[in-house]
Amino acid sequence: MTATATPMPQPLLHIMPPAEWSTHAPLVERITRLKGERDAIVLAHNYMTPEIFHGVADITGDSLALARQAAETNAHVIVMAGVEFMAETAKLLNPTRTVLIPDLRAGCSLASSITGADVRLLRERHPGVPVVTYVNTSAEVKAESDICCTSANAVQIVESLGVDRVIFLPDEYLGRWVATQTDVDLVLWTGHCEVHERFTADELRAYRRAWGGLEILAHPECPPDVLAEADFVGSTSGMIRHVGRTRPTRVVMVTECSMSDNVAAEYPDVEFVRPCNLCPHMKRITLQGIADALEHLRYPVEIEPALADRARRAVDRMLAAS
Ligand code: 13P
Ligand code: SF4
Repeated sequence: MTATATPMPQPLLHIMPPAEWSTHAPLVERITRLKGERDAIVLAHNYMTPEIFHGVADITGDSLALARQAAETNAHVIVMAGVEFMAETAKLLNPTRTVLIPDLRAGCSLASSITGADVRLLRERHPGVPVVTYVNTSAEVKAESDICCTSANAVQIVESLGVDRVIFLPDEYLGRWVATQTDVDLVLWTGHCEVHERFTADELRAYRRAWGGLEILAHPECPPDVLAEADFVGSTSGMIRHVGRTRPTRVVMVTECSMSDNVAAEYPDVEFVRPCNLCPHMKRITLQGIADALEHLRYPVEIEPALADRARRAVDRMLAAS
């Protein structure tokens, strides 16, 4: 094994062979140096790979936590180790900072399922009905919306409007789950997450048969029959908190699979069953990409100011209501 100046972060000792860490360590050192030189922080979504999540992230979390932290940071540069809509949200909330997305291909199937013109058409079809938009959307779609939500606060946001009907965009399955938690009537769109829509209820039943005492945690972007099989439904951070609080003997997180690696690193006493559905967009983000982003200040997020003002209103309104 090659000796490195940067020791392996403690949580990784449980999940990563030292030889693998020695391949990451030079990039981790370069990123740490560049963060200091650039006055930068790395915000990392829970789906990042462990060497990013535990190795270089200053702040980790779900979409809601990353948005809040992006709004509050004084760092000059924010590197979003996540996908494009997360970087756009960070830029909306802290427009004087340089926000970098390390790979321009890091999109999202939900964000690409709907345009601003679609939202305008829906408003024409449902006059006077407010539009609640999942943060997994472009700034253009946010600009046409009344308020945003994330998977962590969707029910609370829908109910905060005090109306009996809302247009809820663009995730059909998240909307169908919210509809089970509230009396508010939801007009839905047919966007889906390409990762969560692949899970099936049969698959979950097979896990239960194969692993005794299995606790099933699922993200609300999963189809309704999958959520019906789950013992707990929550955002990515909601699932992580649930494991920390209840310490199940054996658990499966029905979501993007890097998250189980990150959580398993912190809870070696919990056994994780790990089906692996990867998000190809999240996996565009690598240590190399983060290092290059900091070195060359690429790729900065730019949002046309008038559009940004309208989109920001919807995100600010969410943060004030949750
Ligand atoms: P969270 O807000 O739960 O982190 O979800 C974001 C996401 O993209 C899930 O696929
Ligand atoms: Fe989008 Fe799904 Fe990937 Fe999350 S996991 S970024 S919702 S495609």
